[in-house]
Amino acid sequence: MTQPARRIGIIGTGGIALEHVAAYRLAGAEIVALCDVDAATLAERQERWGVPVGTTSAAELLALAEVEAVSVCTPNASHHPITVAAARAGKHVLCEKPISLGLDEAREMIAACADAGVVLQVGHHMRSWSAATKARELIERGAIGRVTYARFRQAHDWGGATKVRGVFGSLADSGGGTLLDNGCHLFDLARYLGGDVRDVYARTATLKYDIEVEDTASASLGFVSGAIGAIEVAWTATGWQEAFWVYGTEGSLECDNLARTGDLVHRFRRPGQRDWGTTEVERHPPGALGARAQHIANFLAAIDGSCDVVCTGTDGLEAVRLVLAAYESAERGTAVSVAG
Ligand SMILES: NC(=O)c1ccc[n+]([C@@H]2O[C@H](COP(=O)([O-])OP(=O)(O)OC[C@H]3O[C@@H](n4cnc5c(N)ncnc54)[C@H](O)[C@@H]3O)[C@@H](O)[C@H]2O)c1
Repeated sequence: MTQPARRIGIIGTGGIALEHVAAYRLAGAEIVALCDVDAATLAERQERWGVPVGTTSAAELLALAEVEAVSVCTPNASHHPITVAAARAGKHVLCEKPISLGLDEAREMIAACADAGVVLQVGHHMRSWSAATKARELIERGAIGRVTYARFRQAHDWGGATKVRGVFGSLADSGGGTLLDNGCHLFDLARYLGGDVRDVYARTATLKYDIEVEDTASASLGFVSGAIGAIEVAWTATGWQEAFWVYGTEGSLECDNLARTGDLVHRFRRPGQRDWGTTEVERHPPGALGARAQHIANFLAAIDGSCDVVCTGTDGLEAVRLVLAAYESAERGTAVSVAG
Protein backbone atom coordinates (compact mmCIF):
# COMPACT_ATOMS: atom_id res chain seq x y z
CA MET A 1 0.00 0.00 0.00
CA THR A 2 1.43 3.42 -0.92
CA GLN A 3 1.46 5.77 2.06
CA PRO A 4 0.95 9.51 1.68
CA ALA A 5 4.08 11.58 2.33
CA ARG A 6 4.18 12.55 6.00
CA ARG A 7 6.53 14.96 7.75
CA ILE A 8 8.06 13.41 10.83
CA GLY A 9 10.07 14.61 13.83
CA ILE A 10 12.22 12.18 15.79
CA ILE A 11 12.70 12.87 19.52
CA GLY A 12 15.62 10.89 20.91
CA THR A 13 18.08 9.85 18.20
CA GLY A 14 19.81 6.84 19.82
CA GLY A 15 19.67 3.15 18.94
CA ILE A 16 16.01 2.59 18.10
CA ALA A 17 15.69 5.90 16.23
CA LEU A 18 17.94 4.42 13.53
CA GLU A 19 15.23 1.90 12.77
CA HIS A 20 12.45 4.49 12.85
CA VAL A 21 14.25 6.73 10.37
CA ALA A 22 14.94 3.85 7.98
CA ALA A 23 11.34 2.62 8.20
CA TYR A 24 9.77 6.05 7.69
CA ARG A 25 11.91 6.60 4.63
CA LEU A 26 11.03 3.17 3.29
CA ALA A 27 7.36 4.13 3.68
CA GLY A 28 7.91 7.39 1.78
CA ALA A 29 7.69 9.73 4.79
CA GLU A 30 10.10 12.63 5.25
CA ILE A 31 12.21 13.19 8.37
CA VAL A 32 12.02 16.97 8.83
CA ALA A 33 13.49 17.51 12.30
CA LEU A 34 15.52 15.75 14.99
CA CYS A 35 15.78 16.33 18.72
CA ASP A 36 18.26 14.90 21.19
CA VAL A 37 19.36 16.34 24.53
CA ASP A 38 22.89 15.19 23.72
CA ALA A 39 24.24 17.81 21.31
CA ALA A 40 27.04 15.58 19.99
CA THR A 41 24.64 12.70 19.20
CA LEU A 42 22.25 15.18 17.58
CA ALA A 43 24.96 16.68 15.35
CA GLU A 44 26.20 13.24 14.29
CA ARG A 45 22.67 12.06 13.46
CA GLN A 46 21.80 15.24 11.54
CA GLU A 47 24.84 14.78 9.38
CA ARG A 48 24.42 11.04 8.95
CA TRP A 49 20.72 11.26 8.08
CA GLY A 50 20.92 14.57 6.21
CA VAL A 51 18.35 16.39 8.38
CA PRO A 52 19.19 20.12 8.60
CA VAL A 53 16.74 20.98 11.40
CA GLY A 54 17.92 19.84 14.83
CA THR A 55 17.34 20.95 18.40
CA THR A 56 18.20 19.79 21.92
CA SER A 57 14.71 20.84 23.11
CA ALA A 58 11.65 18.66 22.51
CA ALA A 59 9.46 21.75 23.02
CA GLU A 60 11.24 23.49 20.14
CA LEU A 61 10.72 20.54 17.82
CA LEU A 62 7.05 20.32 18.81
CA ALA A 63 6.60 24.01 17.99
CA LEU A 64 7.54 23.41 14.34
CA ALA A 65 4.41 23.67 12.18
CA GLU A 66 5.89 21.41 9.49
CA VAL A 67 6.11 18.43 11.89
CA GLU A 68 2.91 16.37 11.56
CA ALA A 69 3.89 13.36 13.66
CA VAL A 70 6.67 12.36 16.02
CA SER A 71 8.41 9.23 17.15
CA VAL A 72 9.24 9.38 20.86
CA CYS A 73 12.47 7.39 21.08
CA THR A 74 13.77 8.68 24.42
CA PRO A 75 14.40 6.63 27.59
CA ASN A 76 11.28 5.22 29.24
CA ALA A 77 10.88 7.81 32.01
CA SER A 78 10.42 10.65 29.50
CA HIS A 79 7.79 9.00 27.28
CA HIS A 80 4.97 10.47 29.38
CA PRO A 81 5.88 14.19 29.42
CA ILE A 82 7.00 14.22 25.79
CA THR A 83 3.90 12.39 24.50
CA VAL A 84 1.55 14.69 26.43
CA ALA A 85 3.40 17.75 25.09
CA ALA A 86 3.32 16.33 21.54
CA ALA A 87 -0.43 15.73 21.73
CA ARG A 88 -1.02 19.26 23.03
CA ALA A 89 1.03 20.53 20.08
CA GLY A 90 -1.31 18.59 17.73
CA LYS A 91 1.23 15.98 16.62
CA HIS A 92 0.43 12.31 16.05
CA VAL A 93 2.60 10.16 18.30
CA LEU A 94 4.39 6.85 17.89
CA CYS A 95 5.67 6.32 21.43
CA GLU A 96 8.29 3.68 22.02
CA LYS A 97 7.62 0.99 24.58
CA PRO A 98 6.86 0.82 27.42
CA ILE A 99 4.26 3.55 27.04
CA SER A 100 5.09 4.77 30.55
CA LEU A 101 6.37 3.63 33.90
CA GLY A 102 2.98 3.90 35.63
CA LEU A 103 -0.70 3.46 34.84
CA ASP A 104 -1.76 7.01 35.70
CA GLU A 105 0.86 8.38 33.33
CA ALA A 106 -0.40 6.10 30.56
CA ARG A 107 -3.97 7.26 31.19
CA GLU A 108 -2.88 10.90 30.88
CA MET A 109 -1.11 10.15 27.61
CA ILE A 110 -4.16 8.39 26.19
CA ALA A 111 -6.45 11.24 27.29
CA ALA A 112 -4.14 13.94 25.92
CA CYS A 113 -4.04 12.25 22.49
CA ALA A 114 -7.79 11.65 22.48
CA ASP A 115 -8.50 15.28 23.47
CA ALA A 116 -6.21 16.52 20.70
CA GLY A 117 -7.66 14.09 18.13
CA VAL A 118 -4.22 12.70 17.26
CA VAL A 119 -3.18 9.09 16.73
CA LEU A 120 -1.30 7.43 19.57
CA GLN A 121 0.47 4.18 18.69
CA VAL A 122 2.77 2.31 21.07
CA GLY A 123 5.97 0.65 19.84
CA HIS A 124 5.06 -2.98 20.56
CA HIS A 125 6.21 -3.86 17.07
CA MET A 126 5.79 -7.63 17.56
CA ARG A 127 2.09 -7.12 16.75
CA SER A 128 3.22 -6.03 13.29
CA TRP A 129 5.49 -9.08 12.86
CA SER A 130 3.94 -10.94 9.93
CA ALA A 131 4.17 -14.22 11.89
CA ALA A 132 2.16 -12.78 14.78
CA THR A 133 -0.41 -11.16 12.49
CA LYS A 134 -0.87 -14.47 10.64
CA ALA A 135 -0.98 -16.42 13.92
CA ARG A 136 -3.76 -14.21 15.24
CA GLU A 137 -5.71 -14.62 12.02
CA LEU A 138 -5.36 -18.44 12.26
CA ILE A 139 -6.34 -18.48 15.94
CA GLU A 140 -9.41 -16.32 15.27
CA ARG A 141 -10.34 -18.65 12.42
CA GLY A 142 -10.20 -21.63 14.81
CA ALA A 143 -7.28 -23.26 12.97
CA ILE A 144 -5.75 -24.60 16.22
CA GLY A 145 -9.02 -25.03 18.13
CA ARG A 146 -9.13 -23.47 21.59
CA VAL A 147 -5.81 -22.07 22.85
CA THR A 148 -4.55 -24.17 25.77
CA TYR A 149 -0.97 -22.99 26.34
CA ALA A 150 1.18 -20.19 24.94
CA ARG A 151 4.87 -19.54 25.46
CA PHE A 152 6.72 -16.37 24.43
CA ARG A 153 10.45 -15.62 24.48
CA GLN A 154 12.55 -12.53 23.78
CA ALA A 155 16.20 -12.73 24.72
CA HIS A 156 19.58 -11.29 23.83
CA ASP A 157 23.00 -10.47 25.28
CA TRP A 158 23.60 -6.84 24.25
CA GLY A 159 25.52 -8.13 21.24
CA GLY A 160 28.08 -9.82 23.49
CA ALA A 161 28.99 -6.54 25.25
CA THR A 162 30.32 -6.67 28.82
CA LYS A 163 28.01 -3.79 29.77
CA VAL A 164 24.35 -3.00 29.31
CA ARG A 165 23.94 -0.11 26.83
CA GLY A 166 23.08 3.49 27.80
CA VAL A 167 20.68 3.95 30.72
CA PHE A 168 19.08 0.49 30.42
CA GLY A 169 20.77 -0.65 33.67
CA SER A 170 19.49 2.39 35.62
CA LEU A 171 16.32 1.93 37.65
CA ALA A 172 15.45 5.64 37.64
CA ASP A 173 15.75 6.10 33.86
CA SER A 174 14.43 2.75 32.71
CA GLY A 175 12.09 1.68 35.50
CA GLY A 176 13.14 -1.97 35.29
CA GLY A 177 15.30 -4.51 33.49
CA THR A 178 14.57 -7.21 30.97
CA LEU A 179 11.13 -7.96 32.49
CA LEU A 180 10.09 -4.41 31.58
CA ASP A 181 12.21 -3.90 28.48
CA ASN A 182 11.54 -7.22 26.73
CA GLY A 183 8.67 -8.40 28.91
CA CYS A 184 6.34 -5.56 27.93
CA HIS A 185 6.60 -6.73 24.30
CA LEU A 186 5.76 -10.27 25.32
CA PHE A 187 2.90 -9.35 27.64
CA ASP A 188 1.49 -7.39 24.72
CA LEU A 189 1.98 -10.32 22.34
CA ALA A 190 0.39 -12.66 24.89
CA ARG A 191 -2.71 -10.43 24.96
CA TYR A 192 -2.67 -10.16 21.15
CA LEU A 193 -2.65 -13.95 20.67
CA GLY A 194 -4.19 -15.27 23.90
CA GLY A 195 -6.60 -12.54 25.02
CA ASP A 196 -6.75 -10.84 28.40
CA VAL A 197 -4.60 -12.10 31.26
CA ARG A 198 -6.09 -12.86 34.68
CA ASP A 199 -2.98 -13.42 36.81
CA VAL A 200 0.79 -13.44 36.73
CA TYR A 201 3.44 -15.26 38.76
CA ALA A 202 6.99 -14.05 38.06
CA ARG A 203 10.61 -14.57 39.07
CA THR A 204 13.47 -12.15 38.40
CA ALA A 205 17.24 -12.40 38.86
CA THR A 206 20.38 -10.38 38.12
CA LEU A 207 22.92 -12.99 37.05
CA LYS A 208 25.38 -11.50 34.57
CA TYR A 209 25.65 -7.69 34.59
CA ASP A 210 26.53 -5.28 37.41
CA ILE A 211 23.28 -3.30 37.17
CA GLU A 212 20.40 -2.05 39.35
CA VAL A 213 17.77 -4.07 37.48
CA GLU A 214 17.15 -7.74 36.60
CA ASP A 215 18.77 -9.35 33.56
CA THR A 216 16.79 -12.62 33.59
CA ALA A 217 13.11 -13.26 34.28
CA SER A 218 10.18 -15.53 33.61
CA ALA A 219 6.48 -15.34 34.35
CA SER A 220 3.64 -17.80 34.36
CA LEU A 221 0.36 -16.41 33.01
CA GLY A 222 -3.27 -17.35 33.56
CA PHE A 223 -5.51 -16.10 30.76
CA VAL A 224 -9.12 -15.08 31.30
CA SER A 225 -10.05 -17.82 28.79
CA GLY A 226 -8.65 -20.45 31.19
CA ALA A 227 -5.58 -21.09 29.03
CA ILE A 228 -2.16 -20.84 30.69
CA GLY A 229 1.12 -19.57 29.38
CA ALA A 230 4.62 -18.31 30.06
CA ILE A 231 6.97 -15.56 29.08
CA GLU A 232 10.75 -15.80 29.19
CA VAL A 233 13.02 -12.77 28.89
CA ALA A 234 16.76 -12.40 29.26
CA TRP A 235 19.73 -10.16 28.66
CA THR A 236 21.80 -13.24 29.50
CA ALA A 237 21.11 -15.22 26.32
CA THR A 238 23.43 -15.76 23.36
CA GLY A 239 22.37 -13.94 20.22
CA TRP A 240 18.95 -12.47 19.57
CA GLN A 241 15.78 -14.54 19.87
CA GLU A 242 12.15 -13.68 19.40
CA ALA A 243 9.80 -16.64 19.46
CA PHE A 244 6.34 -17.83 20.31
CA TRP A 245 4.66 -21.21 20.55
CA VAL A 246 0.86 -21.33 20.82
CA TYR A 247 -0.82 -24.68 21.42
CA GLY A 248 -4.49 -25.42 20.93
CA THR A 249 -6.90 -28.31 21.13
CA GLU A 250 -6.55 -28.90 17.35
CA GLY A 251 -3.04 -27.78 16.49
CA SER A 252 -0.16 -25.43 17.21
CA LEU A 253 1.63 -22.37 15.86
CA GLU A 254 5.38 -21.95 16.23
CA CYS A 255 7.75 -19.22 15.18
CA ASP A 256 11.35 -18.84 16.32
CA ASN A 257 13.68 -16.39 14.62
CA LEU A 258 16.73 -18.30 15.93
CA ALA A 259 15.82 -20.85 13.27
CA ARG A 260 16.57 -18.00 10.81
CA THR A 261 13.75 -18.80 8.40
CA GLY A 262 11.20 -16.75 10.30
CA ASP A 263 8.50 -19.08 8.99
CA LEU A 264 5.33 -19.49 11.03
CA VAL A 265 4.77 -23.24 11.32
CA HIS A 266 1.16 -24.41 11.69
CA ARG A 267 0.75 -28.06 12.78
CA PHE A 268 -2.68 -29.59 12.77
CA ARG A 269 -4.68 -32.76 12.15
CA ARG A 270 -7.44 -33.03 9.64
CA PRO A 271 -10.73 -34.34 11.13
CA GLY A 272 -10.60 -38.10 11.53
CA GLN A 273 -6.79 -38.38 11.55
CA ARG A 274 -5.83 -40.41 14.61
CA ASP A 275 -2.28 -41.54 13.90
CA TRP A 276 0.47 -39.78 15.93
CA GLY A 277 2.56 -39.61 12.77
CA THR A 278 0.09 -37.75 10.56
CA THR A 279 0.25 -34.21 11.87
CA GLU A 280 0.12 -31.89 8.87
CA VAL A 281 2.30 -28.83 8.53
CA GLU A 282 1.72 -25.54 6.74
CA ARG A 283 4.51 -22.99 6.60
CA HIS A 284 3.85 -19.27 6.32
CA PRO A 285 6.96 -17.42 5.17
CA PRO A 286 7.79 -13.97 6.58
CA GLY A 287 6.13 -10.91 5.03
CA ALA A 288 8.06 -8.50 2.87
CA LEU A 289 8.62 -5.97 5.68
CA GLY A 290 10.30 -6.59 9.01
CA ALA A 291 8.15 -6.07 12.09
CA ARG A 292 9.45 -2.58 12.90
CA ALA A 293 9.10 -1.32 9.33
CA GLN A 294 5.58 -2.76 9.19
CA HIS A 295 4.75 -1.13 12.54
CA ILE A 296 5.72 2.27 11.18
CA ALA A 297 3.83 1.65 7.93
CA ASN A 298 0.82 0.81 10.13
CA PHE A 299 1.27 4.07 12.10
CA LEU A 300 1.28 6.11 8.88
CA ALA A 301 -1.78 4.22 7.63
CA ALA A 302 -3.59 4.92 10.92
CA ILE A 303 -2.86 8.65 10.56
CA ASP A 304 -4.21 8.40 7.04
CA GLY A 305 -7.35 6.72 8.42
CA SER A 306 -6.87 3.65 6.25
CA CYS A 307 -6.49 1.21 9.17
CA ASP A 308 -7.09 1.00 12.91
CA VAL A 309 -4.20 1.73 15.25
CA VAL A 310 -2.44 -1.63 15.55
CA CYS A 311 -1.23 -1.03 19.11
CA THR A 312 -3.23 1.60 20.98
CA GLY A 313 -2.41 3.54 24.11
CA THR A 314 -4.72 1.17 25.97
CA ASP A 315 -2.72 -1.81 24.68
CA GLY A 316 0.41 -0.07 25.95
CA LEU A 317 -1.25 0.57 29.32
CA GLU A 318 -2.33 -3.07 29.64
CA ALA A 319 1.23 -4.23 28.95
CA VAL A 320 2.49 -1.94 31.72
CA ARG A 321 -0.23 -3.26 34.04
CA LEU A 322 1.09 -6.78 33.47
CA VAL A 323 4.71 -5.72 33.96
CA LEU A 324 3.85 -4.03 37.27
CA ALA A 325 1.89 -7.10 38.39
CA ALA A 326 4.88 -9.28 37.47
CA TYR A 327 7.26 -7.14 39.55
CA GLU A 328 4.85 -7.27 42.48
CA SER A 329 4.62 -11.03 42.10
CA ALA A 330 8.41 -11.47 42.00
CA GLU A 331 8.74 -9.34 45.12
CA ARG A 332 5.98 -11.12 47.07
CA GLY A 333 6.69 -14.62 45.78
CA THR A 334 3.02 -15.23 44.97
CA ALA A 335 0.70 -14.98 41.99
CA VAL A 336 -0.84 -11.53 41.51
CA SER A 337 -4.24 -11.10 39.95
CA VAL A 338 -4.64 -8.45 37.29
CA ALA A 339 -7.68 -6.28 37.71
CA GLY A 340 -8.50 -4.50 34.43
N1 LIG B 1 10.59 -1.43 20.03
C1 LIG B 1 11.74 -1.98 20.41
O1 LIG B 1 12.00 -3.16 20.22
C2 LIG B 1 12.76 -1.14 21.09
C3 LIG B 1 14.11 -1.46 20.99
C4 LIG B 1 15.04 -0.66 21.63
C5 LIG B 1 14.60 0.42 22.39
N2 LIG B 1 13.28 0.69 22.48
C6 LIG B 1 12.80 1.81 23.32
O2 LIG B 1 13.21 3.04 22.71
C7 LIG B 1 13.56 3.98 23.71
C8 LIG B 1 14.99 4.46 23.44
O3 LIG B 1 15.85 3.35 23.43
P1 LIG B 1 17.26 3.40 22.66
O4 LIG B 1 17.75 2.01 22.62
O5 LIG B 1 17.14 4.16 21.41
O6 LIG B 1 18.08 4.24 23.74
P2 LIG B 1 19.39 5.08 23.51
O7 LIG B 1 19.98 5.31 24.86
O8 LIG B 1 20.23 4.47 22.44
O9 LIG B 1 18.84 6.47 22.90
C9 LIG B 1 18.05 7.38 23.62
C10 LIG B 1 18.38 8.78 23.12
O10 LIG B 1 17.46 9.71 23.68
C11 LIG B 1 18.16 10.88 24.07
N3 LIG B 1 17.37 11.55 25.09
C12 LIG B 1 17.29 11.26 26.43
N4 LIG B 1 16.38 12.07 27.03
C13 LIG B 1 15.89 12.87 26.04
C14 LIG B 1 14.91 13.92 26.03
N5 LIG B 1 14.25 14.26 27.14
N6 LIG B 1 14.67 14.57 24.86
C15 LIG B 1 15.34 14.22 23.72
N7 LIG B 1 16.28 13.24 23.68
C16 LIG B 1 16.53 12.57 24.82
C17 LIG B 1 19.50 10.36 24.53
O11 LIG B 1 20.50 11.38 24.50
C18 LIG B 1 19.78 9.25 23.52
O12 LIG B 1 20.47 9.72 22.38
C19 LIG B 1 13.39 3.27 25.07
O13 LIG B 1 12.14 3.60 25.59
C20 LIG B 1 13.41 1.79 24.71
O14 LIG B 1 12.65 0.99 25.60
C21 LIG B 1 12.37 -0.05 21.83
